[in-house]
Amino acid sequence: MLHVDAVSAGYGDIQVLTDLSLHVARGEIVAIVGANGAGKSTLLRTIMGSLPARRGSVRFLGEALTGIAPHRIAAAGLRLVPEGRRVFATLTVEENLRAGAYLRARATVAQALGRVFTLFPDLAERRNQLAATLSGGQQQMLALGRALVTEPRMLMLDEPSLGLAPKIVEEIFQKLAELRSAESGILLVEQNARKALALADRAYVLENGRVVLEGAASELCRNESVVNAYLGGEA
Ligand SMILES: Nc1ncnc2c1ncn2[C@@H]1O[C@H](COP(=O)(O)OP(=O)(O)OP(=O)(O)O)[C@@H](O)[C@H]1O
Ligand SMILES: [Mg+2]
Repeated sequence: MLHVDAVSAGYGDIQVLTDLSLHVARGEIVAIVGANGAGKSTLLRTIMGSLPARRGSVRFLGEALTGIAPHRIAAAGLRLVPEGRRVFATLTVEENLRAGAYLRARATVAQALGRVFTLFPDLAERRNQLAATLSGGQQQMLALGRALVTEPRMLMLDEPSLGLAPKIVEEIFQKLAELRSAESGILLVEQNARKALALADRAYVLENGRVVLEGAASELCRNESVVNAYLGGEA
């Protein structure tokens, strides 16, 4: 579905990503693991078109994304849930979800809303509550729901578990597992390498903006350097 081919990108004089290639196939969950500052968010921004690639190319469903505006990329079915769950605090849960789906036909939105509320019963119960009053975990669910109402072909998530209690992290990962489907793909950026590798089919390890390791998630879990650097020394 997604092909990132030899991409370099950065900010001003700083080069962050260097000659980076990866792909996500239909039906796959792919994890990106890396330390703070490795370039994970920069990679997602580059794929999404909000940061231009200086070299290389990004293709989604066979179409080149280079030079295409982020909203058009989203309309093509690629959605990013950014770091820090930016929900509209002064809108209700339902208004947030509807805002995510503003380009879709009414009847389709009603169906998509129904599916999001089935996946997240907590949100259904709070559909008329202001987003500002939700817990951190519920806001993350809402950010995810807002991407899902558009029924994307592929979902990219930037640190969905950041700052959340272990029980909530568990719940988020459970929802992501439920979202696995043969037709779509998920690209997951996570500092919680243990959970990400447990969920993903394949993974890439990023260091200083380069892919230094890639492979089946089940194998990377046992790789000595991954274990030492990202799994606290315990496989
Ligand atoms: N807007 C920006 N302007 C200049 N430099 C930036 C900008 N955003 C990120 N950087 C730099 O790019 C590098 C990679 O940052 P990035 O946010 O992609 O890392 P990350 O892997 O997502 O880290 P984290 O785990 O902390 O989220 C860092 O050195 C960072 O300082
Ligand atoms: Mg980041």
